[in-house]
Amino acid sequence: MDTRILTDLERSAVRSFYLALSTDDRRKRFCSTLSDDAICKYVDGLDFTRHTILGAFEEQAELIGLAELAPGAEESEMAFAVRPDKRRLGIGTALMDGLLARARSCGRKKVLVIFLADNTAMRRLAARAGMLIRTEGGEAYASRELQAIVAAAPESAGRGAAESGERERN
Ligand SMILES: CC(C)(COP(=O)(O)OP(=O)(O)OC[C@H]1O[C@@H](n2cnc3c(N)ncnc32)[C@H](O)[C@@H]1OP(=O)(O)O)[C@@H](O)C(=O)NCCC(=O)NCCS
Repeated sequence: MDTRILTDLERSAVRSFYLALSTDDRRKRFCSTLSDDAICKYVDGLDFTRHTILGAFEEQAELIGLAELAPGAEESEMAFAVRPDKRRLGIGTALMDGLLARARSCGRKKVLVIFLADNTAMRRLAARAGMLIRTEGGEAYASRELQAIVAAAPESAGRGAAESGERERN
């Protein structure tokens, strides 16, 4: 299984993926039972340059999972869906890891996921990713602050520090 960021050219694959979700999965993914028309409008509105749409693919290049990171200067919402026959195989976790890495590299300070309070799979996925979960009424809010990526110090600087440490000890 591979994950990669999708482009505008793959909009129809995203549309087909969401349209194939059952009524219950649509409710879980969008916190609302979206009609086919509403899903098409939603996918038409995705801006692939501002949203990060991460896809999981199996060997035959078939799309088996999708994760989204919404635009946001500091805080961004994430969302996940895995094809029903491919669940509980770690694909959701791989998409979560990929999206967290992407959010960090884009400089986002905080990510959040909103899901229905009875969505055990999403709750576990969020908890395993170190997110704090708060439940209010029928919805749950998972959030996590992200550490900024600090550029690695040049190797010579590290060696110099170690050397000076050695000198101090001697
Ligand atoms: C939520 C979802 C993306 C998880 O995808 P997945 O590929 O099954 O996730 P993983 O296999 O990586 O499992 C992640 C964790 O959830 C747990 N889990 C998955 N499905 C579960 C279920 N039905 N019941 C209980 N736990 C479940 C796994 O055991 C794992 O926990 P662990 O690491 O502590 O063992 C998937 O269930 C899905 O697409 N659901 C419909 C859409 C949805 O609910 N989206 C979330 C709202 S945005």
